Amino acid sequence: MKKRTLGSSVFVLLVLSIVFWAGCGDSEMTIFEKADFGATKDGTAVDIYTLTNASGMEAKIMTYGATVVSLKVGDRDGKLDDVVLGLDNVGEYEEKSRYFGCIVGRYGNRIGKGKFTLDGTEYTLAVNNGENHLHGGLKGFDKAVWEAEYDGVGLKMHYVSKDMEEGYPGNLDVTVTYTLTDDNELRIDYFATTDKPTVCNLTNHSYFNLAGQGLRDNLDHELMLNADNFTPVDSDLITTGEIRPVKGTPMDFTKPTAIGLRIDDDYEQLKPGGGYDHNWVLNKDGEDMTLAASVYEPTTGRFMEVFTIEPGIQFYACNFLDGSVTGKESRVYKYRYAFCLETQHYPNSPNRPEFPSVVLRPGQEYKTSTIYKFSTK
Ligand code: GLA
Repeated sequence: MKKRTLGSSVFVLLVLSIVFWAGCGDSEMTIFEKADFGATKDGTAVDIYTLTNASGMEAKIMTYGATVVSLKVGDRDGKLDDVVLGLDNVGEYEEKSRYFGCIVGRYGNRIGKGKFTLDGTEYTLAVNNGENHLHGGLKGFDKAVWEAEYDGVGLKMHYVSKDMEEGYPGNLDVTVTYTLTDDNELRIDYFATTDKPTVCNLTNHSYFNLAGQGLRDNLDHELMLNADNFTPVDSDLITTGEIRPVKGTPMDFTKPTAIGLRIDDDYEQLKPGGGYDHNWVLNKDGEDMTLAASVYEPTTGRFMEVFTIEPGIQFYACNFLDGSVTGKESRVYKYRYAFCLETQHYPNSPNRPEFPSVVLRPGQEYKTSTIYKFSTK
């Protein structure tokens, strides 16, 4: 990995700017730009890439954590606003990120007690959330500097997670491709292979607020989750193995419902995470891309749909944000100021044989995709 000193990087602005014109019509356009984004504390250079589509929607993605740093999307009057939380520089991400916008790996969400058994061998993972393993451990994929390459269509990010990194068996070779389409979709394609049996569950951890990042809480956003069931958790937010119908509970988002309407209801599942912080079991018929969720923000008219191949989605209402992090544009990230919709296999699956398998073996390909699509109403 190339090294760059912090001093030299601070004043270097745009390093490279390339414009690609794709397709035949003038409306088919993706502008791609690469710039220096400083360096990590150990001096590893970090770059930031900007993708802009025909309607001006813009995604900025950096190589540290393969992280979506900003996402500018139009409202019903065409006014662009940044709809994801993020920080000003790499140093801040290293110090105070709450997984803002990153790729989470090798395993998204929690693995109980940081242990699992695969083919008769017990593996002990790094423990970083009470007694449990969360989002890949102490140094998950969110804290790695990825290699990046723009192939004329998408931004391909590459990372090799070494055998026994954070306790996981096998060298895992991962490619995540971000594509911004002219249909206002941010598409994320995940691909991985391993040289030993392992577990793998990758996701993106963007914190959305469709009213604009860091301006207000999420409570008036109207959420729909295409899920008749969810996976209840214990007091440590570890899935218990149960799959429970949402019907008649505050977990029912089968029809668009304001996030704030029932979030503080006296329902035992809303106690462990202080609100919504659960995996929903998506209604699916096979492994095709299906609509998992939609969110509407009434003041701006912004509408986001989430499509995925994955069987589950973590809806986290940011109950752990507490105003202690100041992010981009000097905005303070207060209680419930955003929401995450992390497409995934179910949390703690390595310890739950009844859940869809997360085991990846040599010769197999881990392949999954998620689309965040934006429009207005
Ligand atoms: C996930 C978890 C939450 C929390 C956030 C990160 O969504 O489910 O409990 O850990 O990530 O802060």
